[in-house]
Amino acid sequence: MPPIWLMRQAGRYLPEYRALRAEAGSFLDLCYNPAHAAEVTLQPIRRFGFDAAIIFADILLIPQALGQDLRFAEGEGPILAPIRDAKALSALTLEGLHKRLEPIYETVSRVHGLLDDQTALIGFAGAPWTVATYMVEGGGSRNFEHTKVWAFRDPAGFAALIDLIVEATIAYLSRQIDAGAEAIQLFDTWAGVLPETAFARWSIEPTHRIVAALRARYPAIPVIGFPRGAGVGLQDYAARTGVQGVGLDSAVPLSWARQAVQSQCTVQGNLDPLMVVAGGTAMTNEVRRIVSAFKDGPFVFNLGHGILPQTPPEHVAALVAAVRAPA
Ligand code: CP3
Repeated sequence: MPPIWLMRQAGRYLPEYRALRAEAGSFLDLCYNPAHAAEVTLQPIRRFGFDAAIIFADILLIPQALGQDLRFAEGEGPILAPIRDAKALSALTLEGLHKRLEPIYETVSRVHGLLDDQTALIGFAGAPWTVATYMVEGGGSRNFEHTKVWAFRDPAGFAALIDLIVEATIAYLSRQIDAGAEAIQLFDTWAGVLPETAFARWSIEPTHRIVAALRARYPAIPVIGFPRGAGVGLQDYAARTGVQGVGLDSAVPLSWARQAVQSQCTVQGNLDPLMVVAGGTAMTNEVRRIVSAFKDGPFVFNLGHGILPQTPPEHVAALVAAVRAPA
């Protein structure tokens, strides 16, 4: 029986989340209020008994803590003041980082105190490439034009941005671990848009630096990398980043992943989030296929991307039961 947790397991598909979110005001108010953020982290644990809780926060809190303006427009997603050159970059600083992120450390420590010892506590951050795309584009993007053109045209200049994110991320995750996080996930949601050499330089290499720093300080804390859309690049990613686990998106073929990735480290994934919206036997059959493909090696059940707001909570309960049903 593999352990199970779901990316974005705390969130809008839960009525109890929507109620607390309405009370808190905005999404960012919720993130920065440790009592509320701890409560939201625990909601899916109480309801479904997942094997891990992931701390409630966001990958864009680092850019904000570096001094970049951030807001979430209702129904539109994040909006940031874009950083597209050395001058804009020079306005960012590590100086206020911990002061700004202190409430997140407080959330970790509260949740750590409230969780039973059967439930793992996962801390997280965005991987540098994915965080950089939001910082440079100023929000979500369709083709990542500004970020890619900067990285291709002026790799040394773009590296200064990546280096800053790497440094901030190591500091941030170290404090999450000090506060009680027992595993770390790095979300590289947009890894899959990079050509081979850029993937090596802007996804694998910065991730490797973060993993190396964390492993040196905290050898017992596993790091899971999730380079979404990396395809056959997952094999190199597993070999060269030093991660202990690799998250698989839903498009990754199971038999390939077993020999190319699970032979190197733990795999995590990869049910299509829309399968949980669909529910029923389509979902349970797919659960069986995934569980059986990975049964002979290290495996954590998850989705291939975050759970969707329209997911019926009863389908999540059925999913957990299916994963835990004896084969
Ligand atoms: O997994 C969890 O339950 C922990 C919390 C968590 C959130 N965001 C809360 C959130 C985690 C791990 C994230 C990661 C995150 N944030 C990623 C990487 C993973 C992925 O989904 O690809 C990215 C790209 C972001 C940036 C972000 N945050 C976007 C683009 C958006 C808007 C789109 C959306 O889903 O609304 C957010 C907002 C956000 N982050 C919400 C939640 C629960 C919704 C906020 C609300 O209540 O309106």
